[in-house]
Amino acid sequence: MHKYINQLAANDQLLIVDREVDPLYELAAVTKKVQDQGDQAIRFNNVKGTNFPIVSNLYGSRRRLCDLISAPIDGFCNTWTEILSKTDASTTAPTQKVKPPVDLVAGKLSELPLITYHEKDAGPDFTSASFRAKDPDSVVPNLSFHRSMYVNDQELRIRLGSSHDMAKYQKRAEEKGQALEAALLIGVSPEIFLAACTSIPLASNELQLAATIAGKAIDSYQCETVDLEVPATTQIVIEGRILPNELRKEGPFGEFLGYYVPEGDNHVFEISKVSWRKDALFHSVLCGSAEDLSVLEAVTAARTYKHLVSAGLPGIIDVSCSPAFMNTTIKIDQQFEGHARQVLMTAFGAGMDYNRACFVVDEDIDITNMNEVMWAYLTRGRVDKRAMILDDIPGFYRDPHKDYWGRIGIDATMPIDRKDEFIRKSVPGVDDIDLQDYIKSK
Ligand SMILES: Cc1cc2nc3c(=O)[nH]c(=O)nc-3n(C[C@H](O)[C@H](O)[C@H](O)COP(=O)(O)O)c2cc1C
Repeated sequence: MHKYINQLAANDQLLIVDREVDPLYELAAVTKKVQDQGDQAIRFNNVKGTNFPIVSNLYGSRRRLCDLISAPIDGFCNTWTEILSKTDASTTAPTQKVKPPVDLVAGKLSELPLITYHEKDAGPDFTSASFRAKDPDSVVPNLSFHRSMYVNDQELRIRLGSSHDMAKYQKRAEEKGQALEAALLIGVSPEIFLAACTSIPLASNELQLAATIAGKAIDSYQCETVDLEVPATTQIVIEGRILPNELRKEGPFGEFLGYYVPEGDNHVFEISKVSWRKDALFHSVLCGSAEDLSVLEAVTAARTYKHLVSAGLPGIIDVSCSPAFMNTTIKIDQQFEGHARQVLMTAFGAGMDYNRACFVVDEDIDITNMNEVMWAYLTRGRVDKRAMILDDIPGFYRDPHKDYWGRIGIDATMPIDRKDEFIRKSVPGVDDIDLQDYIKSK
């Protein structure tokens, strides 16, 4: 984490806030303002009520995400697919056991930054914590994110997304009448953050993926109060257990879809130890912001890309999930009439949760720019013949009113036999113009 922050600073990608900032709304407001104007990361050095410096917006840039895995700007999907294949084939151990860091300090939960993000949130939340937990049956460990609401020094309330691996572990533990031990990791190195965002098969270990990205086993130490190993570079670790058969009020909270999830009966996390490295940095993620969504968009797009390529479909160039990861756009090199429709049908099978609207475009379209994608749809053929509505396909797991049911597929490609009519016009020389040579400043 420190190494990454130093790199961002050296590359002019880190803004520093020295002025005192209130963790009640003000920190989120400054973060949002920075994100509205650009993609730089931020470091808050003086946050009321805590000694921890807070960093945010570390992953809110597509360029930086590509750099983290040494991919070209339009090559995240391809490079990520190669990393996943290497991980599947890896025979080396994902972790190397080390002693707990000598600078580890034990403390109380309330010493950490308690950040309230949105107007109607029930209280402060930890939004960047990835949970380390083990499958009670197979004992394969997992990493995944679950927002956690601060209650007091002994208790957090967590909302487990039912499609996530940890929810399945919790259910299995509960069936045996057991609590599920877990460790919340706040402030992890980038490869661990990326691995935690990714959904891989239940039987796989996400630290194996982190080890592939890092190119070496992840140094990990044994927690004191739970039977789990955690990466040694983690800035802050909260150990504890999810109680079986116990639900208490959690929420409301301003969620990634842009609305509040109402108060609900959710799980209780009983804390047994809180510790941090000396000089620890706390990571804050504004839920639903570019930082939260860019990584999910990138890994969701890569999943669809891998699915299409593995299905043997030709001409798949790239996939994006901008502007929200419920939307998928696929760039193809059209090979035959009807190619785009075949791609659409296959793409829906890549993962039922998120690709509600799917577009297929030609290779000249910028798939991260929805205006371009819509322009292609509106100018390259009939709108009525190039849209397919799939009725009554279930939405994602939290959808009591079926608001997220149904899918729409849009073929926004040009007719394959009339490509010469769709050559994009261009103005020669525009890229070489420097306006300062032409316009006098007052
Ligand atoms: C910063 C961040 C925060 C997230 N918070 C939540 C959350 O609070 N609840 C949730 O259900 N999913 C959340 N997610 C999504 C999933 O936890 C994440 O995609 C994870 O990979 C699921 O892992 P699994 O497939 O191993 O269960 C978050 C993702 C990110 C990147």
